[in-house]
Amino acid sequence: MEKGSLLYTGKAKNVYTTDQAGILWVEYTNQATALNGKRKEQITNKGQLNSAISDLLFKYLTQQGIVNHYVEQISPVVQLVKQVTILPIEVVVRNYAAGHFVTKYNAPEMKHLVPSVHEFYFKDDALDDPFMNDEQIIALDIATEAELVIMRSEANRVNKLLSDIFKKIGITLIDFKLEFGYTAEQQLILADELSPDNMRLIDDVTGDSLDKDVFRKNLGDVTVGYQIVLDRLQKLFTEK
Ligand code: TMP
Repeated sequence: MEKGSLLYTGKAKNVYTTDQAGILWVEYTNQATALNGKRKEQITNKGQLNSAISDLLFKYLTQQGIVNHYVEQISPVVQLVKQVTILPIEVVVRNYAAGHFVTKYNAPEMKHLVPSVHEFYFKDDALDDPFMNDEQIIALDIATEAELVIMRSEANRVNKLLSDIFKKIGITLIDFKLEFGYTAEQQLILADELSPDNMRLIDDVTGDSLDKDVFRKNLGDVTVGYQIVLDRLQKLFTEK
C-alpha cells in the first residue's frame, strides 16, 4: 500500500489517498486541541495511543455488527479506512451530564441522564459547530430525516456496546461524539475515530478522567489516562 497525496488535515489526524481506489490512509498526530482548535499543543505518544484504542474499538464494533469505515492498522499511527463522504454533522451521545451540557443548562455535574441525550452539531468551524435540532438540519438540507434516524439508531447501538465494554474494565462512558459518512455504494456508515479525544471516560474506582478533559482543564498529562484505557482494553480483548 502506497501513501498518496494529502486530502485533509484534521485537528488530530491527517488523511491521504492511497494507490488503492476507495481506501484512505489516516495518520494520527500528537496534536491536541481545545476551544474548537484555538488552543493547540503537541503531546508525545498521543497519536499512537489514540490509534491503538481506535483500532481495538472499531474491531469490536465490527464484530458486533456495526458497519463502519475501518479496515486495518498498518503502523503504530497509520490506519487504512474505506473512503466515505462525511456528513457535516457531529452526533453527541450523553449518558451523564458533563462538559457543555453542564455549562449550557446548569445541569448537576455527572447527573445520570435517563434517557441518554442525543445532540446534533453542524460541523462548521466558522460557526463554531453550532447545535442544531432535527428540523433546522432538515430544512437547511444538511441531512434528511432518514439520515438522522439512521445516525440516532446507530449511535444508540454504539452507546450500548461501548458502555458495556468500558463497564467491564471499570470505566464509565460519560459521553462521546460520532461522525458518519457515505460509501461509494451510498451506505451511511460510522466513520472518524473512537478514542479518548472524542469521549469522556471516568475511572470507576478513582473517579479520574481518562480522556481529553485532562488537557481541556489543564489537569496534567493526558496520555496517562489514555494508556490506562489502552492497557485495560488490550487485557480484556486478549483474555477473550
Ligand atoms: P461537549 O460536552 O464539549 O459538548 O462534548 C461532548 C462529547 O463530545 C465529549 O465526549 C467530547 C466530544 N466532542 C468531540 O469529540 N468533538 C467536538 O468538537 C465536541 C464539541 C465534542
